[in-house]
Amino acid sequence: MGIEWRESLSIGVDEIDNQHKQLLSHFDRLLKACETGRGIDELRNLLGFLDGYVLHHFSDEEGIQRQHGYPGYEAHKKEHDAFITRLKALRQEIGRDGVALHHVVETNNLLLKWLIHHISTVDVQLGRFLKNTAA
Ligand SMILES: [Fe+2]
Repeated sequence: MGIEWRESLSIGVDEIDNQHKQLLSHFDRLLKACETGRGIDELRNLLGFLDGYVLHHFSDEEGIQRQHGYPGYEAHKKEHDAFITRLKALRQEIGRDGVALHHVVETNNLLLKWLIHHISTVDVQLGRFLKNTAA
């Protein structure tokens, strides 16, 4: 099982599409590592990546929405904030107890839901809006 970028995920802004590709490729790496029993090691890498990525990526995406007066901005930002909160909780737990297999499972679930409910749905809606307003 692997995760691949597909054109239907494109929101039409190269910078954001590239950031999404980066996230998906890290997620794919985690899934492949799980298949070979290296999930815990890869989770450490992934969390290191997400630390920098999330703030930078969300702030870019939110900036574009404000710039275009996107009507779904508040609701969209709430989803970003909720993701950051979940990630922080996961980090705190790992900082306290160390990385365990259930953290790998939780992160897989978190990212899978994020891919299905946010990137494939909420971000794609934003892409549709941007394409319509540009036309
Ligand atoms: Fe988003």
